[in-house]
Amino acid sequence: MSKQLILALSKGRILDETLPLLADAGIVPAEDLGKSRKLLFDTNLDAVKLVVIRATDVPTYVQLGAADLGVAGKDVLLEHGAEGLYEPLDLEIAKCKLMTAGIDGAKPARARRRVATKFVNVARRYYAEQGIQAEVIKLYGAMELAPLMNLADEIVDIVDTGNTLRANGMSPRELIAPISTRLVVNKAAMTMKHEQLKPLIARLAQAVERRR
Ligand code: ATP
Ligand code: PRP
Ligand code: MG
Repeated sequence: MSKQLILALSKGRILDETLPLLADAGIVPAEDLGKSRKLLFDTNLDAVKLVVIRATDVPTYVQLGAADLGVAGKDVLLEHGAEGLYEPLDLEIAKCKLMTAGIDGAKPARARRRVATKFVNVARRYYAEQGIQAEVIKLYGAMELAPLMNLADEIVDIVDTGNTLRANGMSPRELIAPISTRLVVNKAAMTMKHEQLKPLIARLAQAVERRR
């Protein structure tokens, strides 16, 4: 196995918070990620390369070993499942909550509650645990619209300030899980590349610690 390390980063809002943390840990991309159409980047460290991909693709890259380690939201990890992945570090960035939410003062839901979400696995598990009959409808965005259009009785989505819910006449209901961004590592790489991974994870842990 090559002793290169490939680190998969989630693009979007996590990336803006990840780059300063990586810099604090001594990892700096060789060029401005925002200004490039490239997807694979060198860093100041010869042994470390970065790929910048959709947040939902990070667990797949790391699980299958295309990347050795990755940065992903706990929401994405809960939805994807933990097979083949270690989660050694909470990076304590992009904190938010995974919640159920609905229209303020809405009439009671259908007997079999309709739930719109992009987190279908998390939602199915959650409602089953609660003993609530639910029909889970997969959406790819703008979940907050679904109850307004009577597509669903409830949604499962990310809540931070609550502004998006409020702006649509909705409120948070139940907390499913507190969310933050995690470092994940391919299980085989953790053994095979332990010598390179260990100091990198330690430097990231120190960077997180210094911010507390
Ligand atoms: P895409 O745009 O590719 O469909 P996305 O909307 O999930 O994906 P982002 O909005 O960049 O992508 O969010 C990425 C991650 O950031 C989420 O998985 C979650 O962990 C975190 N996150 C999402 N929304 C918020 C928020 N409002 N506040 C804080 N963290 C958030
Ligand atoms: C995220 C999430 C919620 C919103 C919650 O959306 O899907 O809609 O943030 O944050 P708030 O409680 O502070 O309003 P995002 O802004 O990422 O837009 P998206 O639908 O394009 O993902
Ligand atoms: Mg988003």
